[in-house]
Amino acid sequence: MASKRGKLIVFEGLDRSGKSTQCERLVTHLRHQGQKVEHMRFPDRTTPIGKMISNYLSGQTQQEDHVIHLLFTANRWELAKAIESFVKEGTTVVVDRYYYSGCVYTAAKGVSGLGLDWCRQPEVGLPRPDVCIFLDIAAEEAAKRGGYGEERYERKEMQDRVRELFGELREHHDEREDIVVIDAGRGVEDVEEAIQKAAVKAWDVVEQSGLPLRKV
Ligand code: TMP
Ligand code: MG
Repeated sequence: MASKRGKLIVFEGLDRSGKSTQCERLVTHLRHQGQKVEHMRFPDRTTPIGKMISNYLSGQTQQEDHVIHLLFTANRWELAKAIESFVKEGTTVVVDRYYYSGCVYTAAKGVSGLGLDWCRQPEVGLPRPDVCIFLDIAAEEAAKRGGYGEERYERKEMQDRVRELFGELREHHDEREDIVVIDAGRGVEDVEEAIQKAAVKAWDVVEQSGLPLRKV
């Protein structure tokens, strides 16, 4: 039976964990199955706010830590209505990074007062994912992959802390029930298969329960 609404599926992980590749593969897979799918990514660098974020990440500009945190959040809020509309009309939205990254990357800076709880507050009310697929890989492994080190947060100490904080989010916060951990240190096909299984499982939960799209 066709479902009334689409699903909201998020990918998270360290830089170079394979998110973008796996996102594309899942999008292609779901489309082959006849699903309507929209592919988004955060930061969305195409909007005016996204351009400010991109300039900050490349090192062209500086931003105060609270300010850049809120710009990342604002970049999600500018697309929140669009996500809700897609899901409502039956289109599944697959997102490369979301508010989980928003919380952990800022908190990983270790700035006083900018802990996970503070960071999470402006995200409250955003569409809540049906599942967050966390591609788990050690920072050393990720660093061996191409292109690492080009942007502001792509340093080993930062990535190590990001990984720890993703762990904290999974253990102690409301997010824990949404997050499925996938070992991303394996071959692309193996990771893809594990992701498809996780997606199907989350999908079935929504279908069987008739769960509406919730809010963070
Ligand atoms: P990207 O490599 O997926 O384009 O993301 C750019 C960087 O921005 C990456 O290091 C993670 C970081 N980031 C945040 O700090 N906060 C956020 O809210 C998001 C979505 C990403
Ligand atoms: Mg990156």
